[in-house]
Amino acid sequence: MDYLTLAIATGRTSKQAMKLLEQAGLNFPDYNNKSRKLVIYDETKTVKLIFVKTADLTTYVEKGAADVGIIGKDTIMEEQPDVYELVDLNFGKCQVVVAGFPTRKIRNGAPITVATKYPLITKAFFDRKGIRVETIKLNGSIELAPLIGLSEVIVDIVETGTTLKENGLVVLDKIVDISARLIVNKASFATKTYQIEQFISKLKAVLE
Ligand code: PRP
Repeated sequence: MDYLTLAIATGRTSKQAMKLLEQAGLNFPDYNNKSRKLVIYDETKTVKLIFVKTADLTTYVEKGAADVGIIGKDTIMEEQPDVYELVDLNFGKCQVVVAGFPTRKIRNGAPITVATKYPLITKAFFDRKGIRVETIKLNGSIELAPLIGLSEVIVDIVETGTTLKENGLVVLDKIVDISARLIVNKASFATKTYQIEQFISKLKAVLE
């Protein structure tokens, strides 16, 4: 039988994803935190795990290089990949928010400059509110933008709130709650239905 190829993102949620897989009975003997191995196999040789950058994960799944993937709802909302989103994995919980200096008022008038990794989510949110914005796309350290005058506010994820607090910023508005999701390649769902269903039921047994 073919392997089920699962993509997970390197970075802050990878440990939680590995823990979930272990609880679901999938053990990867070659896995350890410090390893630079990009492809590993579970003991039963049914799941091939690949480690990819968060920004690339939906591409791997959409193009079928991975059958399934674990990725944050924020990335799904921003990239709108042509995949099935099947399970809320209930970890990686955080919020997408508008943040800025405490004195900052968000109101209509001249366009507000917003630095963000999420231009699409930002535009949709402010469009709904009828507020004009000019988005500036950044790839990280978003909190820096208002501190040095690159933007008036930011749209970013907040988990513990530490990064905002340490930089003198506050949440001005909440956009959406997010968490990690299981996404599935559409063709794989047709050709590997049994394997994918088995995999999902193992995950669900842990989640319930
Ligand atoms: C994310 C996000 C915030 C921070 C929020 O950045 O962009 O900067 O985490 O987390 P907190 O509320 O727990 O402080 P990440 O660590 O992914 O790095 P980045 O700045 O390179 O995007």
